[in-house]
Amino acid sequence: MTFNPLKEKGMPIEKQLRNWHQIVAKPYKKQKVDCYTRTRQILMNGIEVEGWGFKHQFNRFMTDIECEDRANISRIGRIENQQQMTCNWMCPEDQSVLETTLGYEQVAVDLTAWLAQNEPDKYVKETFDFGLLEDFDHLYRYAQYAYMREGIEPNDIVQNQTDVIVGRPTQHHHNCNGLRLRKHYDKTTTSPQTKVNILTVLSGEQQTHNFYAEHGFMYGDHVLRETYAEIKDVEEEHVTMYESLIDPSETMFEKLLLHEFTEVCNYYTCLEDEVDDEIKKYWEIFLDIELGHLQMAAEMFKKYEKRDPEEVIGSDIIIPCRFKSQKAYVQKVLEKEVNKRLAPDGKYYNSMDEIPDDWASYPVQERVAEISSPSENCINVVEFYHDRDVVEASENLKNKEVSLLEKGLQKKAAASNTVYPDKLQEMIDKHEERKKEKDKII
Ligand SMILES: [Fe+2]
Ligand SMILES: [Fe+2]
Ligand SMILES: [Fe+2]
Ligand SMILES: [Fe+2]
Repeated sequence: MTFNPLKEKGMPIEKQLRNWHQIVAKPYKKQKVDCYTRTRQILMNGIEVEGWGFKHQFNRFMTDIECEDRANISRIGRIENQQQMTCNWMCPEDQSVLETTLGYEQVAVDLTAWLAQNEPDKYVKETFDFGLLEDFDHLYRYAQYAYMREGIEPNDIVQNQTDVIVGRPTQHHHNCNGLRLRKHYDKTTTSPQTKVNILTVLSGEQQTHNFYAEHGFMYGDHVLRETYAEIKDVEEEHVTMYESLIDPSETMFEKLLLHEFTEVCNYYTCLEDEVDDEIKKYWEIFLDIELGHLQMAAEMFKKYEKRDPEEVIGSDIIIPCRFKSQKAYVQKVLEKEVNKRLAPDGKYYNSMDEIPDDWASYPVQERVAEISSPSENCINVVEFYHDRDVVEASENLKNKEVSLLEKGLQKKAAASNTVYPDKLQEMIDKHEERKKEKDKII
């Protein structure tokens, strides 16, 4: 069945202002929440932050716009702000920063994997696959700290839906900014699906960056603070990478239309998939609110650009955030592309020996890790707690961990505290031995 959002009236703007009681939702219970309810909550917060910020940029940059329309942009910006509070504050007070962090990286892995498989543009898909393996490794690094500091098993948060194991090592995610820039799509020929997919993942990555910026200092442990700083810097690169895919010649009215359409599509998907009845009610109201925003954006687009909104967003809904386990897909990409690196002109190096000695990312990596790499330190430290790294994956994937590390590690510009494959193997063997000893005692 098709659903054409442009044909829906949605909630009128004048009815969208809510009272404080409605704005502040009752938080979910962290022990009971479905992990994909949490990922929807995290993603929709990011989508709203982007929706709100965009309205402010719009009013700061636009000159030729009537006062009444400018006021309406600001009015819907305020509604986005209220929605943002509702989404973000569904998070309960007893969910620690590290637990929420594991949720953020689960969003990044499973969302990007879904998008990659539902992306019609091959080049954009390749970018999603590339970014995916970096967030996959972030999840693994943070999981070590969650275990050491708070005794959290990764599955307490990811609920067996997402594997936690080494990916492309985080120390190699730091690149020359020019290399992070990818080629942008052509706004006249690209499908609405591609545009919505990019804006969805971009919003998620931007909010991940913001969350680390605002919460990384909440731990006293210096190495953990440095790890947040290191990964936050990669999220900054992810924002650069995903936004560079967007055609910069899109007009502000076109962007407004795409933002509201993206919000509609995401709430539509949330409403279809939600298993928590209380939270589902919010997705329903928010879909209605966004359909109202879309109507307004479409009217402005017609008025100022004299074009049909269908030219930009088509006539059908898009599903941009179907959260479900992506283990098989992620493992496939991991085994194939863990050694992939960014090349100039929006291209890639598909193996280490293709990287030239004067690769522009080497000086960046050497500079930031000239003392050591915090994300490598966390594996060095976890040895004292657990004999080896904390990993959650099938036996088949676990058995490949050392060879994955071998394939994904760069010898040049590697930090002095790098955990090399032979060291990891030693840790794994020690863990097995100790486990046998412990089993005897018990
Ligand atoms: Fe919104
Ligand atoms: Fe990440
Ligand atoms: Fe990311
Ligand atoms: Fe909106």
